[in-house]
Amino acid sequence: MSFPHDRPRRLRATPAMRRLVAETRLAPADLVLPLFVKEGLAEPTPIGSMPGAVQHSPASLVRAVRDAADLGLGGVMLFGVPAVRDARGSGATGPNGVLNRAIRDVIAEVGDGIVVMADLCLDEFTDHGHCGVLDAAGMVDNDATLERYQEMAVAQAKAGAHVLGLSGMMDGQVGAVRDALDAAGYTGTATLAYAAKYASAFYGPFRDAVESTLAGNRRTYQMDPANRREGVREMELDLAEGADIVMVKPAMAYLDVLADVAASSPVPVAAYQVSGEFAMIEAAAANGWIDRRAAIEESVLSIKRAGADIVLTYAAVELAGWLREPRSGGSAG
Ligand code: PBG
Repeated sequence: MSFPHDRPRRLRATPAMRRLVAETRLAPADLVLPLFVKEGLAEPTPIGSMPGAVQHSPASLVRAVRDAADLGLGGVMLFGVPAVRDARGSGATGPNGVLNRAIRDVIAEVGDGIVVMADLCLDEFTDHGHCGVLDAAGMVDNDATLERYQEMAVAQAKAGAHVLGLSGMMDGQVGAVRDALDAAGYTGTATLAYAAKYASAFYGPFRDAVESTLAGNRRTYQMDPANRREGVREMELDLAEGADIVMVKPAMAYLDVLADVAASSPVPVAAYQVSGEFAMIEAAAANGWIDRRAAIEESVLSIKRAGADIVLTYAAVELAGWLREPRSGGSAG
């Protein structure tokens, strides 16, 4: 009978030892908090399917971004919910549209103290709920949409956004936006490309948060969940068009895609723990079926371990607080 010499358990014996040898670490600066602002709202309003998250009023949004900056979060990602929608998403491009105004107010408060990102997509602003404008047959018209994205990009850059989150999944959107930004003199405004964004069931609660009017689905532009290799192809296209950061979304059901992208990306890689991922943890925790804090910590750590440098998560504020006060013994037992 021979006993093992190689005993990995030696390095698991105490919290201090586990801390020393941890391969992956989380810090508040890795985290980006998505925030919603609704036009004309007087008080923040809870979102039923996203416990703890709210639709902000313009004033409460500014306070939330100030708090995120004071906590040392890496950034915020802003989404606007307009009062009026139309076929071309006019509210996305006017300087007084809810999102453009919010960007200006937020930048006036925090300046360069935290990275302010803005969602660049038309779905919140169109009355049909699609991410672009439609052609006569009712299909999303790729190139007509690119022209709208160009206008939206310049409006957001003018309002002061540091990073534009291109989430529409139109072909050529990164290059089109880069051209428009550069032509307008905004060469310093960065792009975060949703490179591999899948047509996912996990976006359900987000659509409540933005009061989405979408009747069908987005399968003609968002990616097919069956496809892994295509994630790398989308990343390569976005890099060739000048993306500064690439993202994979959702995160947990797509960790294989995230690992592939992270293995070959020369630019920082982000991943989005989307509304449905967050809602599942909240729902299970509310039933007493899982330990909420441990599940949130483990899920975000897993996303980072798979290769994300940056994680967008609705739990960013709470998680940053926990990172300051680790549980004795560390997380997850
Ligand atoms: C679309 C967009 C979506 C999300 C953010 N921007 C997805 C969609 O409606 O198809 C989802 C984010 C989440 O679920 O948390 N521009």
